[in-house]
Amino acid sequence: MPEHPAGGSSPLALLTGAGGGLGAAIARRLAASGTGVACVDVDGHAVEATVASLSGYGVPCAGFVADISNPNGVDELHRAVGDTLGPVSHVLNVAGILHRGGLGNTDFDMWKRVLDVNVTGPFLLVQAFADQLRAAPYGRVINCASIGGTTGYPFTAYAASKAALSNMTGSLLFDFWGSDVTVNAVAPGAMRTPMLDASAESAMIGKTPSGKIVTADDVAAVFEFLASAASSGINGVTITVDGGATAQFSYT
Ligand SMILES: NC(=O)c1ccc[n+]([C@@H]2O[C@H](COP(=O)([O-])OP(=O)(O)OC[C@H]3O[C@@H](n4cnc5c(N)ncnc54)[C@H](O)[C@@H]3O)[C@@H](O)[C@H]2O)c1
Repeated sequence: MPEHPAGGSSPLALLTGAGGGLGAAIARRLAASGTGVACVDVDGHAVEATVASLSGYGVPCAGFVADISNPNGVDELHRAVGDTLGPVSHVLNVAGILHRGGLGNTDFDMWKRVLDVNVTGPFLLVQAFADQLRAAPYGRVINCASIGGTTGYPFTAYAASKAALSNMTGSLLFDFWGSDVTVNAVAPGAMRTPMLDASAESAMIGKTPSGKIVTADDVAAVFEFLASAASSGINGVTITVDGGATAQFSYT
């Protein structure tokens, strides 16, 4: 896995889903703003491509292959990131999976898998790295929710998992009381990434005032701001980034 050595006093973000469409966009914005990135994904090739894309920024970064829903994998990741890059100041939970199904085609294993990756994984990661976040000059947890978790959505397990992640965002404040750690979430609307299918994209275009869906980079810009010291007054909230798609609802 290509990597750039640690060193210096820049913030260091652990970023899950770093091999995905949104994760790669966030990784580039963090690196461009001087934040080191521990890139994590279950897909080794994808995470390697993201790490390679950061080589020109001169910040510490390295790739790690892990399934974030596996407690042993999270323990191993905690050790490996510490050994390679040192303590992290930020945890960005961006990895996620979407199962396109409701009651009729979501079996128990699929229900559990979606909840394990989208909710349990972020919980395990924040738990594992909490002491490092508290020790940082300004710690940050940023979770990737979804507008599918704030409205009704026919993909039930996914919607429930993202609603749970948003609630966990506010609830984690109590664990970081008295520290400089903030915990926020970003709820994107439809973005063109490998997760989105073409029919969902055209449906969302009609619901978005600008006539276009948000890009991964539009959403990454909000992650970048929340990751910065300038966002310290924002805590415990989920910020919607959907181009107005959920706000535009009208009976008329
Ligand atoms: N694309 C959209 O329209 C959209 C809308 C709202 C929210 N989101 C959310 O944005 C986040 C990023 O998704 P994306 O659109 O970039 O999709 P993506 O499929 O490109 O990226 C998701 C990444 O997560 C990784 N991943 C999946 N399971 C994992 C696991 N168990 N451990 C570690 N890594 C794992 C995948 O390998 C992939 O690289 C997700 O949380 C998703 O739910 C996406």
